[in-house]
Order: sequence, then C-alpha cells, then structure tokens
Amino acid sequence: MADIFLIVCLAFSFLLFTLPTVSKTCTISKMDPAQFAKIDFSYLIIGGGTAGLTLAARLAEDPALQIGVIEAGSFHSNDPIIDEPANIGVAIGNPMYDWAFKSVPQVGLNGLEMGIPRGKMLGGSSGLNFLAWNRASKPEYDAWATFACTPDWDWKGLLPYFKRSTTTMRDQINVFPGIPAGSEKAGSDHRLVGFGGPINSSYNEIYMDPVSPYVQTLNRLGIKTNANPDNGTTAGIVNTRLAIDRREGVRSYATQYYCRLAKHTNLHVLTGARANRISLSHSGLLATAERMVTASGVEFSANSRTYFAHAAREVILSAGSIQTPQILELSGIGNATLLKALNIHNHVDLPQVGENHQDHLFAGVQYELKPRVRTFDILRNNVTFAAEQAAKYNQNRTGFLAAVDSTLGFLPFQLYLNSTQIKSTLDRFDSVTRHTPKDSLEHVQHAIQRSWIRDGNVPQVEVILFTSGQFAPAPNTSYITILTGGLHPLARGSVHIKTKLPSEPPVIDPQYLTNNFDVSTILDALKVVLQLERLKPLSDIIQSRNIPAPQLHTDAELIQFIRNSSQTSSHPLGTAAMAPRELGGVVDSTLKVYGTTNLRVVDASIIPLHIGAHIQSTVYAIAEKAADMIKGIGC
Ligand SMILES: Cc1cc2nc3c(=O)[nH]c(=O)nc-3n(C[C@H](O)[C@H](O)[C@H](O)COP(=O)(O)OP(=O)(O)OC[C@H]3O[C@@H](n4cnc5c(N)ncnc54)[C@H](O)[C@@H]3O)c2cc1C
Ligand SMILES: *[C@@H]1O[C@H](CO)[C@@H](O)[C@H](O)[C@H]1NC(C)=O
Ligand SMILES: *[C@@H]1O[C@H](CO)[C@@H](O)[C@H](O)[C@H]1NC(C)=O
Ligand SMILES: *[C@@H]1O[C@H](CO)[C@@H](O)[C@H](O)[C@H]1NC(C)=O
Ligand SMILES: *[C@@H]1O[C@H](CO)[C@@H](O)[C@H](O)[C@H]1NC(C)=O
Ligand SMILES: *[C@@H]1O[C@H](CO)[C@@H](O)[C@H](O)[C@H]1NC(C)=O
Ligand SMILES: *[C@@H]1O[C@H](CO)[C@@H](O)[C@H](O)[C@H]1NC(C)=O
Ligand SMILES: *[C@@H]1O[C@H](CO)[C@@H](O)[C@H](O)[C@H]1NC(C)=O
Ligand SMILES: *[C@@H]1O[C@H](CO)[C@@H](O)[C@H](O)[C@H]1NC(C)=O
Repeated sequence: MADIFLIVCLAFSFLLFTLPTVSKTCTISKMDPAQFAKIDFSYLIIGGGTAGLTLAARLAEDPALQIGVIEAGSFHSNDPIIDEPANIGVAIGNPMYDWAFKSVPQVGLNGLEMGIPRGKMLGGSSGLNFLAWNRASKPEYDAWATFACTPDWDWKGLLPYFKRSTTTMRDQINVFPGIPAGSEKAGSDHRLVGFGGPINSSYNEIYMDPVSPYVQTLNRLGIKTNANPDNGTTAGIVNTRLAIDRREGVRSYATQYYCRLAKHTNLHVLTGARANRISLSHSGLLATAERMVTASGVEFSANSRTYFAHAAREVILSAGSIQTPQILELSGIGNATLLKALNIHNHVDLPQVGENHQDHLFAGVQYELKPRVRTFDILRNNVTFAAEQAAKYNQNRTGFLAAVDSTLGFLPFQLYLNSTQIKSTLDRFDSVTRHTPKDSLEHVQHAIQRSWIRDGNVPQVEVILFTSGQFAPAPNTSYITILTGGLHPLARGSVHIKTKLPSEPPVIDPQYLTNNFDVSTILDALKVVLQLERLKPLSDIIQSRNIPAPQLHTDAELIQFIRNSSQTSSHPLGTAAMAPRELGGVVDSTLKVYGTTNLRVVDASIIPLHIGAHIQSTVYAIAEKAADMIKGIGC
C-alpha cells in the first residue's frame, strides 16, 4: 500500500511537527570514507536497509568480527517525516529518502510508467513503508523448502526468526470496535509471536468510524474476522499489527537493530556511500567445470571519490530487490550475453539474475461518506481538529497522529467465487501457463500456485481499507478507499542494468497485467468490493461513489479502469531467487550466489515465490535466519 496514497500524504505535510525529545537518542558517529576503507572487515554488507542492518547487528554480536555496512542514504534520527505514523507516504518521491525509481512503460497499464519507491536511508524501505506488520500463511513458507531443497526453509524453520525480530506489545486486545471476535487475545501467543526483539509491533488504539460497518458488512458476506492470523492461517478480515512503538508513538524500523542491539565497537556503518561493484577473482586451480569466484571487497563512491573496502570472509548483498540484481550485474554476475554487450567481464553466467521479479498490484475504489462520518480526512479539512490532535500527540503520543489504517482482508477465491467460477479461474490459469517450459522455475511455481487456488488454503486476493480519500478532501467531507489486488500474480518481470555506470538506475519492467489471470483476479475482486456499497451496514454511511466513475459498468470498462489506475504496493521480490541453479536460481539454500565461494544475498530478492502478506516481517525473518547460518548456528 504505497503509491496510491502519495497525493493524500503530500497533503498531510502541513501536519509536520517536531517531536519532543525521545528518551534515548540514537546517533551514528560520522565516519570518514577513507577511514572506513582502512578497516579490516570480516563481513562487508552492501545496503543498511531492512535486511542489511538486521544482519549486521546480529553478526556484530560476535565481538571477534568486524562488520562493515555501506549505505547510500543517511540516518534520519528523530525525523518526524519518518517517525510519525501519520506521516506515512510523505517521504515518497523525496530524494532525501527515496530512490524514486520508475518502471519502463507498462503495456498492461496502457503504457503508463509505474513509480517504484525504495527507501534510501539507514533502515531502507522499512523507514519508508506503511507500517503494516503481518506474515503469510503456512503453505506459502512451506513452498520455499521445495525451492531451497532443504527442509529448514519452511514455516517451522522460519518461525523462530519471526519471533526473534519482534517485541509484540503485551496486554493489547485485538478487536475491531464493536465486533467481538471471541479470541481477542489469541494473537499474543508466545509460541507464535516474539517478546524480546528490536522491532516493536502493536495494534492501533483508535479506529476511524467506517471500520466497524465495513468489517460487519464483510462478515455478513461470510468473510470472517481472523483474530489470530499469525498462526499460519491468514484468510479473513484482519486487524493487522503495525510496526509502531506505542509508548513513543513512533515507527519502529530496522534502525532499532542498530540502536537497541549493537554495541557499535565492531559495527561500522558508513552512510552516504554508494556501492558500485564487488571485486571478484578466480580462486585457486579448482578442476571443476566452472571455476568459482571469490569476493574480496567492494568498490564504493562517497563525496565524489572512489574507495575500496576489503572483506576477509564474505561480501553480503542487501541492496533490495531492485539494486541487488543491479550490483550483481555491475560486478559481472548475470546473463553473459547482456554483460558482454555492455563490455563487462562475465565472472559467472547466471542468466536468471534480475529475472523472476514479482510484485503486488492494487486497484482502488473510493466513496464519499455521509456527513459527520469521521475518517483521517478530518486532519486535512479541519484545522482546529488537526491542531488538537497535534497537541495530544505532542503530550503523550496518542490520538490520530499515532494511528494508521490496519484493516486488511485476505481472501481465497472460494470466499467469493462458486465452483463454476473457480473452474474457469483454473482454466484461465492453465491457458496462461500452458506453454511454460517444463524445466523452468516458473513451471515449479505454477504447480504450487495452482494447488493453492484449487485447495483454497492460501489467500489469492487482498482487500485493504483506507479511511481517507486519495485527494485533498473538500470541507466537511470524508472518504474511504478500498484497494484490491492479487497476491499470487503470474506476471514475471525483470530488472537489468542498461549501462556500466552504477549511477544509472536499472531498467525495471514488472510486466504488470500482461496476462488474463492477473487481470481477472483484480476484476473479480473489484466486483466484490463494488457490491459492498449496496450492503448494510456499510451502505448506511456511503453517500456516493467517486472512483471508478459510476457510469463504468461493463467488464471491459472496469478492466480499462484497472489498467489506467492500478498502483504497486511496493512488494517487489524474487530477482535473486533461492532455487536450484538448473531451475534458474541465483542463490542456494545458504543464500550463497552460485559460482561464488563467499558472496551471499540477504534481502527480499531471494524469496522464490510471492507471498500473501506485506513482506517486511518476512524480510526481517530472512535476515535473522541468515545471521544464524553465517555464524554457523542452525543448518
Ligand atoms: C512505500 C512502501 C510501502 C510499503 N509498505 C509496507 C507495509 O506496510 N508493510 C510491509 O510489511 N511492507 C511494506 N513495504 C515493503 C517492505 O518495506 C520492503 O519489502 C522491505 O523493507 C525490503 O527490505 P530489503 O532489505 O529487501 O530492502 P531495503 O529495506 O529497501 O534495503 C535496501 C538498502 O540498500 C540501500 N542500497 C541500495 N543500493 C545501494 C548501493 N548501491 N549502495 C549502497 N546502498 C544501497 C538502500 O538505500 C536501502 O537502504 C513497503 C515498501 C515501500 C517502498
Ligand atoms: C519496544 O521494544 C523494546 C525492546 O526492544 C521494549 O523495551 C519496549 O518496551 C517496547 N515498547 C513497547 C511499547 O512495547
Ligand atoms: C490456526 O487457527 C485456526 C483457528 O483456530 C485453525 O483452524 C488453524 O488450523 C490454525 N492453523 C495452524 C497452521 O495452526
Ligand atoms: C540474456 O540476455 C539476452 C540479451 O538481452 C537475451 O536475449 C536473452 O534472452 C537472455 N537470456 C536469458 C536466459 O534470459
Ligand atoms: C472541527 O473540529 C473542532 C474541534 O474538534 C470541532 O469542534 C468542530 O465541530 C469541527 N468542525 C467541523 C466542521 O467538523
Ligand atoms: C493522553 O492525553 C489525552 C489528553 O490530551 C488524554 O485524554 C489521554 O487519556 C492521555 N492518554 C494517555 C495514554 O496518557
Ligand atoms: C456461479 O456464479 C455465476 C455468476 O454469478 C452464476 O451465473 C452461476 O449460475 C453460478 N453457478 C453455480 C453453480 O452456482
Ligand atoms: C461545514 O459544517 C459546519 C458545521 O456543520 C458548517 O457550519 C459549515 O458551514 C460547513 N461548511 C461547508 C463549506 O459546508
Ligand atoms: C483509460 O485511459 C485511456 C487512455 O490511455 C482512455 O482512453 C480511457 O478512456 C481510460 N478509461 C478508463 C475507464 O479510465
């Protein structure tokens, strides 16, 4: 849930307040790049983002190691634009915080280019995201074991790491206002969630007026409230936890690993430095079919100068799903033909680098509400109210400015399609996938995806309630926006470099809506949402529909609407997939890049197949698991 709210959030800008001094300020000692380059690192990590900083802080727990992190952005310590929940989205598009990439024109989106936000700061995209904190269902993680070819990359193997990253707020009741679910405390089960990790997660303490009628309406359609989605069964309407530290009323993100965990004597974080390429050389005289390459360090740029830092043990790439493949290719690991054309020495021919890109795409419906139905819009059209909330926030970090939307629905097709419709959905799936080569990664993915659709055990669609409009609201008006998107698309995109220059952004081609299955998934879900407007009690608070325009009725019209207006939820992954090399994998089950002795990828790029969740908590879990693997604990 990102871009669609860009406009909303920019409109929130007038609400920026300076935060009262937080109890403990955490700063980063200014480091000279030349000084950094002299350190004899054991491990060098590229990217101090969600995964990179998590991994760095865990590795630094061993005082014998010297850990280096090269991060292009800066540390926005005590910055309300990042910290204050009400400011989610404000930093999007701002080059101080966001790489602000763009896709190439998308055929499936009537030629539009998609804005691709990516956090450029210490903490990476965990500092830019919309705070939703959830995880996918058990079968989705179990599928990873198929790709990894080891049993520990499954639900059971990941669960300890989900827990290790988090401090779940105690004694909060998970309940939508006025709708008891019967198991409100189920979500605080110590077997499922953590109570000692660096990232705080918590429920909202206030909810906007439309939440209750919306949830009741979905409940009446047979879509039940799920009070314990952390147990591996995610279907239903969920009041999601948020990555918010309730005591401070602020975003909790990867910098907490640095601030709360690390002692900083052996963890060296260089900000404002861009990694250009990894230095690779052929090691020894191995008589293997392909000689392995070894990473010796990283070339980086800072203050318009170029430096080289050395890593004795390993280089770890944590630059995220867009820049990890970019840096691999710049370093000579990737499709031989592509690299040759750019005059880059090809160290390892790994054509799947940058392929297998998968993302979540959402279309949105917007309603104007009856007078006096209160939503977050009131912060934008009632200055008195906004000032009251600001005072409240500054006093004790509560109120509207500490809350964000948290109502998510995760729906298997079976919750709204009948058996005939499921059959045509499977037929559509088959007609898109029929020609996939048998020995490909996609072929294995398709078999898994198809079984999930057939069995109905894994949600296929997400429905998100935003209690605000997409544009600045007129006086005395309020809105809701309901987003719907497919969780397991068939689109496979790519990210590749187009020049040797590290400063040039890569070519990002997500291939959004280029197949009928993905289009129909959104269309069918959109039609369910459009039914809601006529159902009580939601219909009681709706005045009129503004988006899509009420005169759009036919499937063809709605499909054009979807193509013209869909937005990414910013969950790209899979561009350095963990899978067997012969299937098109880039890393093995230890996250080592094929053909290398000591280069790993630890970030969202390794996820082989998309999951029905917002992915940050999964990325933290991957990094926690990687830390154990690298330390030699676990497998
Ligand atoms: C706008 C937005 C909203 C989102 N909303 C949610 C949400 O509500 N809930 C949820 O669970 N997930 C959400 N996500 C997704 C989630 O935040 C990301 O998937 C996750 O944080 C990615 O982690 P990562 O470690 O793979 O990459 P990142 O956290 O992006 O880290 C990559 C880091 O590498 C750095 N870097 C890149 N290239 C270089 C280089 N050459 N040299 C040096 N440094 C470099 C970057 O600056 C960045 O700090 C959202 C994402 C975005 C962008
Ligand atoms: C947030 O997490 C830290 C542990 O990292 C903990 O000390 C603190 O109490 C948590 N805050 C809340 C509000 O739970
Ligand atoms: C999770 O809880 C639900 C409801 O209690 C139950 O039906 C389901 O089997 C549980 N799932 C797992 C994976 O434990
Ligand atoms: C490698 O790149 C070339 C040139 O861009 C392209 O034609 C080819 O299909 C790619 N190979 C693979 C396996 O993706
Ligand atoms: C604006 O907010 C103030 C303070 O909460 C309230 O008294 C007033 O009624 C609101 N005005 C409108 C038009 O809603
Ligand atoms: C926060 O302050 C408001 C008054 O602005 C008060 O009503 C509320 O009870 C306080 N909440 C907490 C948790 O202290
Ligand atoms: C399934 O739904 C479609 C569309 O609403 C309807 O035309 C069809 O009769 C239904 N089929 C069954 C078996 O219920
Ligand atoms: C908004 O509502 C308030 C109170 O109901 C009323 O006084 C005011 O005129 C309204 N403003 C507009 C622009 O309709
Ligand atoms: C979609 O955009 C095209 C232009 O690309 C326009 O012709 C068409 O009317 C739009 N349709 C809808 C439903 O928005």
